[in-house]
Amino acid sequence: MHVVVNAATSADGKLSTRRREQVRISGPEDFARVGRLRADSDAVLVGIGTVLADDPHLTLDDAALRDERAARGDEPNPARVVVDSSGRIPLDARILDDAATTYVLLSADATPERRDAIAAAGAEVVVAGDERVSLPEALDALGDRGVADLMVEGGGEIIHSLFAADLVDELSVYVGSLVLGGREAPTLVDGPGFVEDFPKLSLEDVRRVDDGVLLSYEVLGR
Ligand SMILES: NC(=O)c1ccc[n+]([C@@H]2O[C@H](COP(=O)([O-])OP(=O)(O)OC[C@H]3O[C@@H](n4cnc5c(N)ncnc54)[C@H](OP(=O)(O)O)[C@@H]3O)[C@@H](O)[C@H]2O)c1
Repeated sequence: MHVVVNAATSADGKLSTRRREQVRISGPEDFARVGRLRADSDAVLVGIGTVLADDPHLTLDDAALRDERAARGDEPNPARVVVDSSGRIPLDARILDDAATTYVLLSADATPERRDAIAAAGAEVVVAGDERVSLPEALDALGDRGVADLMVEGGGEIIHSLFAADLVDELSVYVGSLVLGGREAPTLVDGPGFVEDFPKLSLEDVRRVDDGVLLSYEVLGR
């Protein structure tokens, strides 16, 4: 599976404010780029922290992109994936609507009741891992369901776990021209961080987009 992480940060590396509310960091040209990246992916993944903070829909706004996918025999929208160990996802979350297939990745920590309720709300449930979701196992399970190109949109906890497990192939960071600050504000890569064996990147491209900069990296590994 090919995994691309794509996110937008402030100039000081924050994904959002200390209130964890969604902030508009990029502009129309970058939204179009992200739409294209989604359209070219089999699935788009977020952590439960992002679902609880932003209630994202993760579909394609641009009808031309949906038509293009349908014309090549794909579902109009890529599948959506939520990583959610204990099944905290609200049953009325927008990501559970019928606009696309949604996979909710749970761990053995989720109760059977919660598992059934999430399935009844329309998701395909995948159980991987004991306490937290095991991302290597979960990505294998998605691969078995036909996901070859996976786009990850955040947040910082999930991105850290993917880097820690050596599962990221490409990283695209849009750096917007604003400062969010805040020691409690989420950053691009949170979790416990790395003290050795840092993930190494190769800078492939730098491009001005809207009033920010798009940095494109290939991930070399730890
Ligand atoms: N600017 C951007 O491009 C962008 C994009 C996305 C999000 N955001 C922002 O990022 C913030 C949310 O980020 P976040 O870091 O709090 O949440 P997150 O990464 O979306 O989700 C983290 C949660 O996922 C669950 N999880 C399950 N298995 C995991 C594993 N193996 N590794 C890590 N987490 C696992 C954990 O909760 P359980 O243990 O309960 O399962 C964990 O708390 C929001 O403020 C949102 O607005 C910004």
